[in-house]
Amino acid sequence: MAHVSTYKPNSAIEKWMDDRLPVMRMMHDQFNDFPTPRNLNYLWTFGGILTFCLAVQMATGIVLAMHYVPQETMAFDSVEHIMRDVNFGWLLRYIHFNGASLFFLAVYIHIARGMYYGSYKAPREVLWIIGVLIFLAMMATAFMGYSLVWGQMSFWAVTVITNLFSSLDSIIPGLGTTVVEWIWGGFSVGGPTLTRLFSLHYLLPFVIAGLVILHIWALHVPGSNNPTGIDIKSKSDAISFNPYYTVKDGFAMSMFVILFAAFVFYAPNFMGHPDNYIEADPLVTPPHIVPEWYFLPYYAILRAIPSKLLGVVAMFGSIGLLLFLPWLDTSKVRSARYRPIFKWFLLLFFVNAVALGYLGAKPPEGAFLIWGRICTAYYFVFLLVIMPVVGWIEKPAAMPGSITDDVLGKKPVPAK
Ligand code: HEM
Repeated sequence: MAHVSTYKPNSAIEKWMDDRLPVMRMMHDQFNDFPTPRNLNYLWTFGGILTFCLAVQMATGIVLAMHYVPQETMAFDSVEHIMRDVNFGWLLRYIHFNGASLFFLAVYIHIARGMYYGSYKAPREVLWIIGVLIFLAMMATAFMGYSLVWGQMSFWAVTVITNLFSSLDSIIPGLGTTVVEWIWGGFSVGGPTLTRLFSLHYLLPFVIAGLVILHIWALHVPGSNNPTGIDIKSKSDAISFNPYYTVKDGFAMSMFVILFAAFVFYAPNFMGHPDNYIEADPLVTPPHIVPEWYFLPYYAILRAIPSKLLGVVAMFGSIGLLLFLPWLDTSKVRSARYRPIFKWFLLLFFVNAVALGYLGAKPPEGAFLIWGRICTAYYFVFLLVIMPVVGWIEKPAAMPGSITDDVLGKKPVPAK
């Protein structure tokens, strides 16, 4: 349904501005009067929560950067200086550190919501693709930020991950080594690596912010999907974004802030690794190098494959494949609610992703390795085989005639 502007300037100044740069009209039409499905559940509050997370990370990060020193011999000590000497520096750092984890928790819920309700399907493909690009940029940002602490775990995580590019040597001898040394700015991870990671860690959140604007723009062309996956058909299917969803989003955000505060004030290091409180030492490799929890599933995929190059391809491929989800899923029905077979495979995919996370933290040997391989296989089989095939053969369940019918509990219409 086309959305007609309902904005009316209230004063002469607003009228004057509206004729020149109609930002007030845009804000009113997009965030006040925007027609939104009336049946959105709490999973739809995570987009707002993510916007909040990005703002918190940027605000705390900018202040942290005023005290942090991106220099090999001073980085670790400057973090301790922030923790002990800077007024409320501990709070800033713990918010930024736990904020990164909660940002990922929220984004995983946001992605899972999109997958369950088929929000990636037409006409929202570009919105979804921008989302995947945001996710990639978030991963790069988090990885670089973690390295800045210059503790044992972050130093060795950077060493392991940047070294992956050396697998290119098996395609063109010397290519991988050249790329890795170019990334390092030397012959090992060191001062020049740290300064470039700092520079990019500061830059990327602004790129993410730009992508988020495009993401919301792409959302507001078709409007939000909803738990039924059925489009808005009449006026009664929609309500205005404000006050209904501003209140719902505000409440969910408050709950999220309580969880956030619980971590920051009561368990600030719960999501970290104790070895990162030991200063980086290039001469001592920790026996067990593990990334932050939000990277563990990908780490498990990397290690499940015996060839270094193929492991790297599988790891990047596992995220890259998400870009093609709108076309890998062949079903005409959006919401998994009405897809009796797909729903169970999808739920198993979520369990599988958590299992991969668990396995990523374990040493790649014995039963852990075997399970790592089984879960990696399911990840790819689900996306490349189950999604297209189930879409072709599955008979969807009976669906409500409209969003309103669903809300009012009217009898669903059996699928043809
Ligand atoms: C910084 C990260 C992100 C921010 C700030 C963000 C923001 C938002 C907002 C505000 C919405 C509308 C509210 C909602 O539906 O929850 C939304 C919707 C959506 N986002 Fe994101 N997003 C982010 C990352 C992602 C990622 C990584 C993906 C997918 C890979 C994604 C896919 C989607 C989709 C498909 C929708 C439409 C949902 C629907 O209408 O059913 N987003 N996003």
